[in-house]
Amino acid sequence: MKISASFLSCKNIKKALIKLGLTDVNYIHVDVVDNKFVTGRKIPIRKLKKIYKYTDKRLDVHLMVNKPKKYIKKLALLNTERIVFHVELEKNIEKNLDYIHKFGIKNGLAISPETDISILKPFLDKIDTILVMSVNPGYGGQAFIPESLDRIKKIKKMIGKRKIELSVDGGIKEEQAKQLKEIPVDIIVAGSYITNSNNYQEKIDSLR
Ligand code: DX5
Ligand code: ZN
Repeated sequence: MKISASFLSCKNIKKALIKLGLTDVNYIHVDVVDNKFVTGRKIPIRKLKKIYKYTDKRLDVHLMVNKPKKYIKKLALLNTERIVFHVELEKNIEKNLDYIHKFGIKNGLAISPETDISILKPFLDKIDTILVMSVNPGYGGQAFIPESLDRIKKIKKMIGKRKIELSVDGGIKEEQAKQLKEIPVDIIVAGSYITNSNNYQEKIDSLR
């Protein structure tokens, strides 16, 4: 299981990124909020575009925005492994999935806790990643929604033999990581559990 670290709830992003760089975390999870798709903590895009200056880790981008295209363009050429945006958008999904691929990186769709999982079906042969939200998108530091485990299992079944990475995002601590490892999922995104600690590596080890 790979671990992607979110800094959404950090006051000092630069410091958090430098500290994460000293750990063996696999990715830096970049949450982008536009305050239109959902309201939440909006870190200006010009700031996000500079985070590669403070980390060598590959970026795992999660767009919580109404119009992914302009953000894809701005973030795809950094040290980016994948970009996911939300399936709830309904408009231009295939176009934007193809657009991400044009930059030679992985694409994917994120799904919010309230959304019917069958909405993902038409895109299963076009995506590299599914990011299942286990909290409502917008803020770090929320509690994991227990029903997510069942949804994740169902989505895994739906994926079947396809090579789609299954990623889970929100409220993950040691206990949830253990449960997710049993399913198993490919990537877990963890923010406050890691960054609220003085010893990032110890927390990352406990998730693994
Ligand atoms: C929520 C974000 C998550 C979140 C994870 O909108 O997409 O990535 O920041 O942080 P924790 O682990 O604190 O829930
Ligand atoms: Zn996220």
